[in-house]
Amino acid sequence: MTLTIVGSQLGDEGKGALVDRWGGDADVVVRYQGGDNAGHTVVEGGAEYKLSLVPSGAVRGTVGILGNGCVVNPKTLFTEIDDLRERGLDPDVRVARRAHVIMPYHRVLDGIEEEVKADDDAGDAVGTTGRGIGPTYEDKAGRRGIRIADLLDPDALREKLEYAVPQKRALVEDVYGLEIGDDDERAEAFDVDALHEEFAAIGERLADEEMTVNCADYLHRRSEAGDEILFEGAQGTHIDVDHGNYPFVTSSNPTAGAASVGSGVGVTTVGDGEVVGIVKAYLSRVGEGPLPTELDGDADEEALADDIREKGGEFGTVTGRPRRIGWLDLPMLRHAARVSGFTGVAVNHVDVLAGLDELKVCTGYGLEGEELDTVPTTTDRWERCEPIYETLDTWEPFDSSAVAEAGYDALPEAARDYLEFLADEIDTPIYAVGVGPDREETVELTNPFEE
Ligand code: IMP
Repeated sequence: MTLTIVGSQLGDEGKGALVDRWGGDADVVVRYQGGDNAGHTVVEGGAEYKLSLVPSGAVRGTVGILGNGCVVNPKTLFTEIDDLRERGLDPDVRVARRAHVIMPYHRVLDGIEEEVKADDDAGDAVGTTGRGIGPTYEDKAGRRGIRIADLLDPDALREKLEYAVPQKRALVEDVYGLEIGDDDERAEAFDVDALHEEFAAIGERLADEEMTVNCADYLHRRSEAGDEILFEGAQGTHIDVDHGNYPFVTSSNPTAGAASVGSGVGVTTVGDGEVVGIVKAYLSRVGEGPLPTELDGDADEEALADDIREKGGEFGTVTGRPRRIGWLDLPMLRHAARVSGFTGVAVNHVDVLAGLDELKVCTGYGLEGEELDTVPTTTDRWERCEPIYETLDTWEPFDSSAVAEAGYDALPEAARDYLEFLADEIDTPIYAVGVGPDREETVELTNPFEE
């Protein structure tokens, strides 16, 4: 059986905690898209682990796979593995030989393109994480990418670098009009010999530690043997390159369909399993783009956003940027539930909303005299949407550990009403409720692996 975990909003919904919790019942945890732009915080017995590439399940000793749909910065991967080893863990991480490699020039190009867009009057900088994600996926689609398998073959690696690197240098110099002199710190990112030496050595370490796999074949065999597979989505539905708020998106597909494409496990197998959407009880967004329910209208709203940001620790795991805050937006959740076919949802950060004077939920949008129940397809139209709010009862702060232990009925009544309202609106049952950052601080109604 498979379980696919998907972000329902804009990333940062607290997927890591659920992946970690349910990952204990899985035999393999697979990331199917994205790279080290993700930031997963896993709190285990008071110890905090911040991971951006290693699948969260690795903290609990489950085999972690970076699927073919991922873009992998091997240096980040080794740093995270080495750090976990230093902290006494022994993560077992394998990388798909078909996955693409984020090269140093991809990161440089990510930065340059963002700067150029920021200077442009159109003001359409995306606010990327600067990890080279977009440029790597561009090269993948452009059939000039370097894959993990190429790192294992020094001759193939050189051939690919000799083709790609001069093009990248020309892009920087001739298109963006920038000079990269020999003493420029970015020079090594465009030096074929230096890149070859560094990445062939990375290939040797991957081979020595037997870290690479034929992902589709490996997962097929694990599945045939009756093993449970958990697919760990990164980012969220509304920054999906196809289904999100284009162009303010990441360059991959966080939605559930990509679990199949990005791992090589057939759609029927993925579709036969459970697909759980992870929801934050309010909204946060890091980076640019519309946020119709954003709390930024006046000083009171800004103070409320500050309060939620502090209580919820809403600062980017990867970049440290403060996240923008908004009320829960049901049109966004309806879109997410439809696109991924959620069988259940887990709602996190319910504790953060305790003690508010007022609690609002956006149930639809008004746009040009019409009422919409889902997100329009263009940024321009979404930006012009007026949220239609329903005001719900608030609840007082509660003891998270006691509630997690006692179960769902121990939640304040108004919190249960809020959750049931959400579930009804998107016609999807609640599987779990997050009431605090620790894995133990979760009220579980359904364990998808036991469904
Ligand atoms: P990129 O993925 O670095 O190219 O960034 C593209 C957009 O996705 C930017 O708005 C980022 O802030 C956003 N983004 C990327 N990864 C995450 C994530 O893990 N959580 C939330 N937002 C993300």
